[in-house]
Amino acid sequence: MCGIVGYIGYREAFPIVIKGLRRLEYRGYDSAGVMLYDGNELVVCKTKGKVADLEERCKDTTTAGATIGMGHTRWATHGVPNDVNSHPHLSNSGELAIIHNGIIENYEPLKKELINRGYTFKSDTDTEVLVNLIEDVQKTQNLKLGKAVQVALRQVIGAYAICVFDIKKPNEIIVARLGSPLAIGVGENEYFIASDASPFIEYTTNAIYLEDEEIAVIRLGKKLKVRKIKDDSLVDPYVQKLQMNLEQIEKGGYDHFMLKEIYEQPSVIKDTYRGRLLADQGIIRMAGIEDNLERFVNAERILIVACGTSWHAGLVAEYVIEEFTRIPVEVEYASEFRYRNPIINKGDVVIAISQSGETADTLAAIKLAKENGAFVFGVCNVVGSSISRETHAGAYTHAGPEIGVASTKAFTTQITVLTMIALRIAQAKGTLNHTDYRRYLQELERIPEQVKEALESNDVAKEIAAVFKDAPNCLYLGRGYNFPVALEGALKLKEISYIHAEGYPAAEMKHGPIALIDEMMPVVVIAPKQGHYDKVVSNIQEIKSRSGKIIAVVTKGDTQVRDLADYVIEIPETSDALSPLITTIPLQLLSYHIAVFRGCNVDQPRNLAKSVTVE
Ligand code: G6P
Repeated sequence: MCGIVGYIGYREAFPIVIKGLRRLEYRGYDSAGVMLYDGNELVVCKTKGKVADLEERCKDTTTAGATIGMGHTRWATHGVPNDVNSHPHLSNSGELAIIHNGIIENYEPLKKELINRGYTFKSDTDTEVLVNLIEDVQKTQNLKLGKAVQVALRQVIGAYAICVFDIKKPNEIIVARLGSPLAIGVGENEYFIASDASPFIEYTTNAIYLEDEEIAVIRLGKKLKVRKIKDDSLVDPYVQKLQMNLEQIEKGGYDHFMLKEIYEQPSVIKDTYRGRLLADQGIIRMAGIEDNLERFVNAERILIVACGTSWHAGLVAEYVIEEFTRIPVEVEYASEFRYRNPIINKGDVVIAISQSGETADTLAAIKLAKENGAFVFGVCNVVGSSISRETHAGAYTHAGPEIGVASTKAFTTQITVLTMIALRIAQAKGTLNHTDYRRYLQELERIPEQVKEALESNDVAKEIAAVFKDAPNCLYLGRGYNFPVALEGALKLKEISYIHAEGYPAAEMKHGPIALIDEMMPVVVIAPKQGHYDKVVSNIQEIKSRSGKIIAVVTKGDTQVRDLADYVIEIPETSDALSPLITTIPLQLLSYHIAVFRGCNVDQPRNLAKSVTVE
């Protein structure tokens, strides 16, 4: 899941590539590198560390004059993050340069073969194998660069998005993809290449998203040529007009993208239901659902596959869909599902949830479900992403670009979409009475205002964060709809503050975690008035009698829990089924402030990546 950027045109390439890499750092950031060509010399500059380190490293490198460039920000798969393993990689002759996102699974036999043929390797990467394989094909079969890349890729098993440059062909860059995203920005006499459109959005809004198994020859002054790697057939590339703007992908005055994205939730939740939820008329209308309503209504079972935070949204959906529609729901980690020979029946509907739409395990789970004849519906944020294309139908969350690695607005907008789906099916099936249905629609419409109100807990969350910033462990408890929220709260804390945290169903605490509780242990309890309030109050008492420190998320005006808890965060009241959309907010703020107090890199936590395009 690295980030790749390329430029070929008339402008200076270095600033474009560096700026692009900064925008893609969410994809990986353990090392970075650039390749530049000024018509004479091919310059490579790379380093372990972030894009800022790369800029420092390149200070003594001549970058001016180069109008062709490629850059890479890495999330290590093969080979530890160090200078040598950073991309770009050069072929043995020094004439070919490559940047690569993905994994070449059969790199070892390919490498052995190349070593037998006299090739040597400096790095431990699979990428250096690929660039030498291309060189070998080019030389032994006397092929042009584009053809050589194509032939080499036919030997490759794995996933890739690559850019290849050949000093002998200084007017072109070859790009190809299989399983990793790659977009080409089409300007006037210039082309941009990137893992997503954010690096080039300020230069052009015309973009081509390469499909799997496609290769493109990007040659200055020539029309772009796209072919299928396998059978060499020509493809007519579709040029999309991009809707996003630069402001959407910059911090907009907030200290971190994560905080900006937390605060965007009232408006993006509204964007999610805009035009789909007509509360006054009692209508929910989503094209992907309407077109396939019969399938949902007649579904014998709904299987949800996802990873990370999206999996937590899936768990919330399990509660909501079962409650409203009475259709049995199973939620699976995509990584488990794909390898366990799951039972998938023709009458099953599979819902794949993914912010990025690029998560490798989720994609593989979708392919498996399709092979088994299931109808697969995608809930994605990134428009045009692989998952949105791979699924039979879907609904976008419309949360806008999420840059902070820890997912926030993607989660609440996923829940919004999934709740609307549940309500629409319930209405069609008649499993929810009309009064309740209308009430939920009205409540859903009020959620953005209530999220805004919940955001007012920011100062309290910050005060509590100051108290618990050095805690080594933290427990999150919730019941029913708020059990998945407890999991998500714990995940947020782990991800960005590196504090060990666990989410648990509140009652299950008695079967293990209660042993951990002492006066050092902060326990975050989600205890809104609706739901299993009395039961949660009993759980709070159990913690209190063992001297645990209680941080409770309560409904405004609550007094019972306030008397028991050490700290309370108030949220507005909504029905149990919609409460995750509100209870999540203070937990996001709490982990954000704890991470800031601890001096952690909130937007780019160690070892993580925004989009995991490797399994
Ligand atoms: C990574 C991200 C998480 C995300 C998960 C699934 O681990 O760091 O924030 O929840 O991938 O990603 P997806 O894009 O499929 O929702």
